[in-house]
Amino acid sequence: MDYSELSVEKAKAFNADEISKGRLEVKQGDVSTLDLPDGTYDLATAFETIYFWPGLEECFKEVARILKDGGLFLISNESDGEDSTSLKFEKIIEGMKCYTPEQISGALKKAGFSEVSIAHHPNKPWITVISRK
Ligand SMILES: C[S@@+](CC[C@H](N)C(=O)[O-])C[C@H]1O[C@@H](n2cnc3c(N)ncnc32)[C@H](O)[C@@H]1O
Repeated sequence: MDYSELSVEKAKAFNADEISKGRLEVKQGDVSTLDLPDGTYDLATAFETIYFWPGLEECFKEVARILKDGGLFLISNESDGEDSTSLKFEKIIEGMKCYTPEQISGALKKAGFSEVSIAHHPNKPWITVISRK
């Protein structure tokens, strides 16, 4: 799911084969108000997108709502919230916010997630944060 019409169009074109086989659906929508049912999914992922979410804790609560109890949420960012390249983009892209793993972890816990684990690339600012509902 993505709220940008262009991103949805590109994702549909790239994944046309899988969509035609009924293995994938690409939907347009906003993570802050997901048009998806409660307690349904085993896994939610967010790649390179939480920088733009309108209120981390509230959006994480919305992700928690659609996950089954015990479901996993994986966040993957190429910024660890402290790297100079991403902080430069943060200054010029309106609404962008880079988060440290600790800030992400704190918001996840406030949103009801537990078992938060953080992985950081040894020499790049790439992070993965996995948590369980
Ligand atoms: C850097 S792109 C990453 C796209 C894709 N996840 C990937 O890994 O290739 C960030 C995406 O987040 C989307 N996005 C930002 N805020 C969003 C929101 N509130 N709800 C849904 N998508 C959002 C943007 O439209 C954009 O396509």
